[in-house]
Amino acid sequence: MINEYKRIIEENLEKYFDERLQNPEYGLFKDVIESMKYTTCLGGKRLRAVFCLEACRIFSGDYKAAIPTACAIEMLHAQSLIHDDLPCMDNDDLRRGKPSNHKVYGEATATLAGDALISFGPQIIIEKTQKTVTPEKIVKLLYEYSIAAGAFGIVGGQTADIEAENRKEKIPVEHLNFIHKYKTGALFKFSLAAGAILGGADEKQIEAIKNFGEKFGLAFQIKDDILDVTSTTDIMGKTLGKDENANKSTYVTIFGLKSAKEKLKDVIQECYDILEKDNMKTEVLEKITDTLK
Ligand code: IPE
Ligand code: IPE
Ligand code: MG
Ligand code: MG
Ligand code: MG
Repeated sequence: MINEYKRIIEENLEKYFDERLQNPEYGLFKDVIESMKYTTCLGGKRLRAVFCLEACRIFSGDYKAAIPTACAIEMLHAQSLIHDDLPCMDNDDLRRGKPSNHKVYGEATATLAGDALISFGPQIIIEKTQKTVTPEKIVKLLYEYSIAAGAFGIVGGQTADIEAENRKEKIPVEHLNFIHKYKTGALFKFSLAAGAILGGADEKQIEAIKNFGEKFGLAFQIKDDILDVTSTTDIMGKTLGKDENANKSTYVTIFGLKSAKEKLKDVIQECYDILEKDNMKTEVLEKITDTLK
């Protein structure tokens, strides 16, 4: 199922960009569309999009209504990566095993491509979602999108992440959890909420799946911080060892690798507990949670 979801996402993402690239009207700014497509279509695990399709399927038995939204989520995720890699942020030359967006297209185009990806997603949601989906659902999910994409979501978290660099004193764990909740948790939370909204979940079910998304996001970022010191650039497709070099505040840099691994174990267990308690223990959600072990 995960591979089937990934195939559908990849196929549709290509299509949405190519429709525009083939339009002579946009010839003069083709560069920015190519730059948008470059990072978005460069692979990646597609976890957030898979979560969105699966959440829709859980509540409605079908995932098709969520395809444009799942693609919009990958666009927003790609935007966060493009901007995260810029010299003014993490200054990373490698992403998904290839040169980062600004290394190929230059900083100006990369910045603009990121900006444009934030609004291309909602454009695609409005244009491409099946007409049987009610406008109420679309408005509700676009509201959640605005929160996740902006100052009260990823942007807020990324700001707090940069602000926590080069601290003389270690930041408290609550502060670290706050950074992770926004920079990483917000998008996982939105991905699942969006699928649930499209699938017709009620408020209580939406809250439960958001709760899982936020917890999963925390576990995911702790794992990413662990991999930054234990994995290899070849495997991860991005420069590793960067958190320490950049004096980032992470579970590993603050508490050490052993404590980070223990914390990860606890948070993964909390993820399983939510799935169990709220009756969302599906093969896909469990399998993806398993990958964090
Ligand atoms: C990378 O996310 C950014 C973080 C939140 C750590 P992923 O590890 O999901 O990146 P891709 O999509 O697989 O490249
Ligand atoms: C990124 O966290 C979170 C985003 C919102 C992009 P990192 O800075 O640790 O992600 P990587 O390690 O560069 O993928
Ligand atoms: Mg970063
Ligand atoms: Mg980074
Ligand atoms: Mg990282």
